[in-house]
Amino acid sequence: MSNKQAAEDGDELRALQQLVTLRFAGDVQSIHGIAHWRRVEQNGLEIARHSGADLLVVRLFAWLHDSRRLNDNEDHGHGARAAAWLTELHGEYFVLDAGRLATLCYACEWHTDRTSTEDATVGACWDADRLDLPRVGTLPDEAYLNTAHGKLLSRHIRHRMTQGHRSR
Ligand SMILES: [Fe+2]
Ligand SMILES: [Fe+2]
Repeated sequence: MSNKQAAEDGDELRALQQLVTLRFAGDVQSIHGIAHWRRVEQNGLEIARHSGADLLVVRLFAWLHDSRRLNDNEDHGHGARAAAWLTELHGEYFVLDAGRLATLCYACEWHTDRTSTEDATVGACWDADRLDLPRVGTLPDEAYLNTAHGKLLSRHIRHRMTQGHRSR
């Protein structure tokens, strides 16, 4: 199995997923908990299949970017804390070369404070997170998305949400 295939289908992240879930300071059933991480993972993999983004980095972002949240409010700095923690986990729970590790750290650290990126992998990560805004009743906005497929998905989501409102 190729690395790409393993990143998409394999169970190699199971230990990391269990650790992140156990160590989460908040409620794992909350809006920033495990269901969100799973949806970000699915969104990110779908975008990556269309853009060539790094599948393993996208999956790791999904499980780590909100892992150091202390609450469900703004919690400024949770991205930087995630970046710091993941460098400690690197080597034991997952292995990336220096460039991919730097990409993952950047994506986690800046996922709330920066909007746009030219990097396909960072773009897939950030778009995947922002496409899950409907969980809190917010429509995703193309102006804050980076990838062509992320923008397409946002149009589908907006269409579904606005049609749903009309039919109520
Ligand atoms: Fe976040
Ligand atoms: Fe998030």
